[in-house]
Amino acid sequence: RPRILSGMQPTSDSLHLGNYLGALVNWVGLQDDFDAYYFVADLHALTVPTDPEVLRHRTRVTAAQFIAAGVDPTRSAVFCQSHVTAHAELGWLMSCLTSFGEASRMTQFKDKVAKGQNANVGLFTYPMLMAADILMYDAAYVPVGEDQRQHLEITRDLAERFNARFGETLTVPEPYILKESAKIMELTDPTAKMSGTNSPDKGLLLLSDEPNRLRKKIMSAVTDTGSEVRFDPQEKAGVSNLLAIHSVLSGTEVADLEAEFAGRGYGDLKKAVAEVVLAAVEPFRSRMDELLSDPAELDRYLADGAERAAVVAGATMTRVRDAVGLLPAA
Ligand code: TYM
Repeated sequence: RPRILSGMQPTSDSLHLGNYLGALVNWVGLQDDFDAYYFVADLHALTVPTDPEVLRHRTRVTAAQFIAAGVDPTRSAVFCQSHVTAHAELGWLMSCLTSFGEASRMTQFKDKVAKGQNANVGLFTYPMLMAADILMYDAAYVPVGEDQRQHLEITRDLAERFNARFGETLTVPEPYILKESAKIMELTDPTAKMSGTNSPDKGLLLLSDEPNRLRKKIMSAVTDTGSEVRFDPQEKAGVSNLLAIHSVLSGTEVADLEAEFAGRGYGDLKKAVAEVVLAAVEPFRSRMDELLSDPAELDRYLADGAERAAVVAGATMTRVRDAVGLLPAA
């Protein structure tokens, strides 16, 4: 079976609905047809200064949420990026293939610097580590949200460059991005991407939120002064975001939702969105709590996942080291 791979950063206390709809739902669906590798990007998370205890907690929460949401750790490898140390090594090799100008043009880096975040060098080389994550597993597809598209492009460039310079060694991956769910917006400002690190709590639907909290946040979502339920991301960003969330979760076409809510107010739409969100998130709440209250089982899954990932990574690194001209260690 062809391989797929994806990761999420443990940079907040819970994943949010954007992570879930943009990526996690697809991770769950794709594991039937692919040999899947899903990891917690703990090394990437270190680009944001974090208390060690908090990072440990968030790493476990992120992994628990993968599993609670339906990733099956007995089929797909679920692991911590830092447990497969070859990621850092291949990241270095990717940095040596990347020009300074090319790295400087990455929008996520530019945005963070523009916002005045004091940028460390890790933030600058972030995309090269991400390329290493992907190329390590010869991933055919990478299921992510729209915000990762540029990172996928540089990964493809680096794979092609590596192959051109050193001979066919790495698989050039394709992004797997579904248009409807690729960019879930903040509830309080539907022109901004829902983000665990930038959005205010009221704008974020967390997978760990209590049902009432989720309902409250959805009911107070910012819409617009009109009353027509119509999908139009330019003119009606808030309403369109709610329609997109409903559509993906309920499997109903947006056009059918527009017809269903024709002549009804935004309140009705919000109530319906709250119902589908709760129906999606509620079933995995207890599994998440269970995995976190006694992390021994979770840690076993992570150890097992890392072991399986390390086998693939080891084979790739043997090929890569030989291709670039590093002497074999023994
Ligand atoms: P991260 O941790 O920011 O986000 C995890 C995943 O969630 C998606 N996502 C969204 N999708 C739709 N709407 C949103 N509002 C939204 N917010 C986040 C992201 O696109 C992503 O798929 N660099 C990556 C982590 C990473 C990675 C990798 C991913 C490291 N190495 C290798 C894939 C392959 C990141 O920061 O994602």
